[in-house]
Amino acid sequence: MPEAAYHEVADHKALDNSLIRPSRAADMAAITAIYRHHVLYGSASFETEPPDEAEMTRRRADLLARDMPHLVLELDGVVLGYAYAGPYRPRPAYGDTVEDSIYLAPDAAGRGFGRRLLEALIAECTARGRRQMVAVVGDSANLASLRVHERAGFRVVGTMTSVGFKHGRWLDIVLMQRTLGPGDTTLPDARP
Ligand SMILES: CC(C)(COP(=O)(O)OP(=O)(O)OC[C@H]1O[C@@H](n2cnc3c(N)ncnc32)[C@H](O)[C@@H]1OP(=O)(O)O)[C@@H](O)C(=O)NCCC(=O)NCCS
Repeated sequence: MPEAAYHEVADHKALDNSLIRPSRAADMAAITAIYRHHVLYGSASFETEPPDEAEMTRRRADLLARDMPHLVLELDGVVLGYAYAGPYRPRPAYGDTVEDSIYLAPDAAGRGFGRRLLEALIAECTARGRRQMVAVVGDSANLASLRVHERAGFRVVGTMTSVGFKHGRWLDIVLMQRTLGPGDTTLPDARP
């Protein structure tokens, strides 16, 4: 399957030699391992069985086929995190709204990488003509995720209480949202 065309905004090189770039097939083992940790031990994802590399590869291909960005952050050649946008909901009228996801290797948290991945994802989705980005933050106690989204211009639009149960406790989801580009001030772009 052809890889989606990426915009130059995806190549962010930082002072610390870390780089945000489009993911490649060869990144999938690292991405699968990062997500596995969060499925098994975290509450951001409401999945409970870690998907294997084949399933993660299938999910990425599905996103690329929908012209969604799928990015990694690497430092000295090691993938420390990834982020992607996906459809917020599948029905066609939601087509200009995307939902973001960001996952870092546990020892990579708290160093600004999440914020940079989210900013790159916002730039990619804006360049592709999307108009709204939604974050479904799993667990209202996930202060890092709430803060990273707030810093990137998201506002809280609602909390659904105790809609999940994982690791022996009830979990809320916090819905956050930000406008991309012209938002609703113009009609949607035509999609390929
Ligand atoms: C959520 C996540 C992506 C954030 O990325 P990060 O690199 O750790 O966050 P950053 O270092 O970029 O910090 C961004 C902001 O959040 C704040 N922050 C980070 N961790 C925090 C924590 N544990 N508690 C409170 N604030 C925190 C930072 O201080 C910073 O705010 P500031 O700019 O006002 O100083 C990352 O921690 C992660 O992968 N968590 C597990 C998976 C997850 O929750 N993903 C989100 C799914 S929606």
